[in-house]
Amino acid sequence: MKGKGKMMIDARNLTKVYPNGMRAVDGVSFSVKKGVIFGFLGPNGAGKTTTQKILCTLLKPTSGEVTVAGYDVVREASKVREVIGVVFQDPALDEKLTGRENLEYHARLYGMDGKEIKRRIRELSEFFEFGDELDRLVASYSGGMRRKLEIARSVMHDPDVLFLDEPTVGLDAHTRRKLWNYILEMRKNRKLTIFLTTHYIEEAERLCDEVAIMNKGRIVAGGTCDELKRKFGRKSILISFPSLEEKEKALRLIENISGIRIITERDRDVEVQHPDMDEIVLMREIQNTLLNRVEVVEMRMKFPSLEDVYVELTEDTDGGGSGHSIGGFVVRRMMHVG
Ligand SMILES: Nc1ncnc2c1ncn2[C@@H]1O[C@H](COP(=O)(O)OP(=O)(O)OP(=O)(O)O)[C@@H](O)[C@H]1O
Ligand SMILES: [Mg+2]
Repeated sequence: MKGKGKMMIDARNLTKVYPNGMRAVDGVSFSVKKGVIFGFLGPNGAGKTTTQKILCTLLKPTSGEVTVAGYDVVREASKVREVIGVVFQDPALDEKLTGRENLEYHARLYGMDGKEIKRRIRELSEFFEFGDELDRLVASYSGGMRRKLEIARSVMHDPDVLFLDEPTVGLDAHTRRKLWNYILEMRKNRKLTIFLTTHYIEEAERLCDEVAIMNKGRIVAGGTCDELKRKFGRKSILISFPSLEEKEKALRLIENISGIRIITERDRDVEVQHPDMDEIVLMREIQNTLLNRVEVVEMRMKFPSLEDVYVELTEDTDGGGSGHSIGGFVVRRMMHVG
């Protein structure tokens, strides 16, 4: 690695305007250190795939500076290609070949010799537990098997940086967890740097050391999951009542606390927030309001999830205002409590 040194990925003011005028990426800057799993989150059309394609040299940026492993993605594109592995959002396997042939073909493109290819396939076959599936035609593979093969193929040539665009889409919970383990293992064994685009917040929380949330071509927040929760998430108070009657009684009283917002109301639970009141103060306020009038089973503070933060930050704010917090409340109504 050369150039800027420590950063495996470094993007400065990256912008991509497609020929039709679509500004898909709009002045984005971020960097990823070696060995880090970096999560890229954002709604459909946010510009994630466009960004990843530029990092992988498949697409030229309109402006901005981007290096991968110290190499410039425009001026040193072939160097970049040597050190990266890529799994695309759209499946890109040859259906008419067996799994093994897909791996061999890829390895030959990277100039690996026959002996090395055999060794590497044996190694990956063990790691991904392929068994004899490798000798079947890809056309007969299940979705999970295809995804696994695509990831195996992307690391055949032992890259330093791996790009995964929604690697676990459409997989069942078991297969997804397995793939997570493989990804974590690869990072541990190889100090692989991984750039992972995903729509699954849980996936980002499980895998990623850092995340960036993208919306409409811009990065709206970045940091570790904990940092984001602390910075953007608002805590709420969850109150459980012994019966629906008690809950209804309590709601009528609580609603008198000026400015209070009912976030969710389900079964015998109520979740509330106050935009301008510290949670401890709010808790005391509720206690005082309900004291000797309503029976409460439990009252506790609920910390925001990364999903809460994500929803608030990527709320469609067209139509003006700074309104994401208000929008966030609306959407949060539909989410589960706990
Ligand atoms: N070749 C293209 N020409 C014109 N516009 C494009 C092209 N490719 C993508 N776009 C547009 O650029 C924007 C960003 O698309 P991109 O595929 O990067 O989003 P994404 O964040 O990966 O979305 P998803 O989560 O749906 O995969 C979208 O509005 C998309 O329609
Ligand atoms: Mg995409």
